[in-house]
Amino acid sequence: MSQVFSRRANAIARGSLIGFILFIVVLGTAYWVYIRSPLFTGVGSAPPQPVPFSHQLHAGDLGIDCRYCHTTVQTSAFAGMPDTKTCMNCHTIVKNTSPLLAPVRESFQTGKAIQWTRVNNLPDYVYFDHSIHVNKGIGCSSCHGQVDKEPFMAKGASLQMGFCVNCHMHPETQVRPLDQVFNMSWQPPANQAQVGAQLVQQYHIQSKISCSVCHR
Ligand code: HEC
Ligand code: HEC
Ligand code: HEC
Ligand code: HEC
Ligand code: HEC
Repeated sequence: MSQVFSRRANAIARGSLIGFILFIVVLGTAYWVYIRSPLFTGVGSAPPQPVPFSHQLHAGDLGIDCRYCHTTVQTSAFAGMPDTKTCMNCHTIVKNTSPLLAPVRESFQTGKAIQWTRVNNLPDYVYFDHSIHVNKGIGCSSCHGQVDKEPFMAKGASLQMGFCVNCHMHPETQVRPLDQVFNMSWQPPANQAQVGAQLVQQYHIQSKISCSVCHR
């Protein structure tokens, strides 16, 4: 019988097998990197809003408390969004002819709420609750970043499952004194390991990692 495959065929087969495995590895790595990259998670990019509202100006420079607008952040799952009346407390007087505020004045007259674009949005199958975090010493900036430095609101963290579970496994690394929850510049001190462990006891923080905590 004549030789169907040349001797080189073996080498070619082996070569293409290695090539294929390499291709899969590269593809897998690229996917792994991609699903963690800002391109996929949306971290740092600000969606356009109907009114160019600036947290840097209002929460930073003017120092308005988060709770003035997000009134239910300490008491319910939902942080709360300001109604137009809240804006008009000031903007009937301040900048009351600014074209940037035309949609606000229109909303005030018609009673139709301003449709803000969501920045942070978990899938429906995930349960989240602001009040328990805020009342147990987890600060806004741990999940939203330094919003008082942002002219336009951007997503501060991936909000992927790993992000949540990391902290749920080691809350002592991120818990802060209750009077620091609204401090956007808080950083863990050098002795966070000790302070954190103490606060975990003091606030009766449990490590909640069972699936039903977030998927109910
Ligand atoms: C004067 C009112 C006002 C104050 C004060 C204020 N916010 Fe807001 N906040 C808004 C408005 C309006 C939006 C929607 C527009 C936007 O996303 O920029 C918003 C959006 C947000 C969002 C994004 C919501 C989403 O869609 O996911 C976060 C997070 C947030 N604010 C956090 C804070 C924090 C933290 C503070 C305090 C440091 C604060 N805000 C102070 C009015 C306010
Ligand atoms: C406590 C008072 C206060 C509240 C409440 C408030 N603002 Fe302002 N806002 C100001 C001040 C002060 C300025 C800056 C005026 C200046 O630049 O001199 C301003 C500026 C602005 C500007 C820029 C206007 C321009 O022409 O430069 C926009 C847009 C704006 N605010 C939107 C809002 C919206 C939307 C809300 C409600 C979610 C809101 N503000 C609530 C005080 C307030
Ligand atoms: C442990 C993480 C975490 C902390 C701490 C946190 N947030 Fe949030 N925030 C989220 C998540 C997640 C969402 C999106 C919720 C959703 O899609 O159901 C959100 C959404 C919001 C919204 C949009 C309205 C809503 O409730 O969906 C506002 C406003 C907001 N956060 C403000 C704040 C403020 C102010 C603080 C501090 C007092 C704070 N957040 C602390 C994770 C956090
Ligand atoms: C920086 C730390 C931190 C991050 C990030 C964080 N959590 Fe938590 N979470 C806590 C702490 C602390 C508690 C309180 C645990 C306890 O009951 O003692 C908690 C409690 C909860 C609870 C329990 C509420 C209840 O009623 O028992 C839910 C649900 C939850 N977190 C969901 C989430 C989700 C979803 C995310 C991600 C989007 C998230 N958390 C991110 C620290 C964090
Ligand atoms: C602390 C909160 C938290 C806990 C605990 C948790 N999850 Fe999740 N899970 C999330 C969040 C947030 C997402 C949404 C991720 C996204 O938007 O990409 C998610 C997404 C998922 C998804 C969709 C696929 C994916 O990865 O995006 C599955 C499946 C899932 N979780 C299973 C589980 C199982 C099984 C457990 C228990 C071992 C668990 N989760 C525990 C927060 C949690």
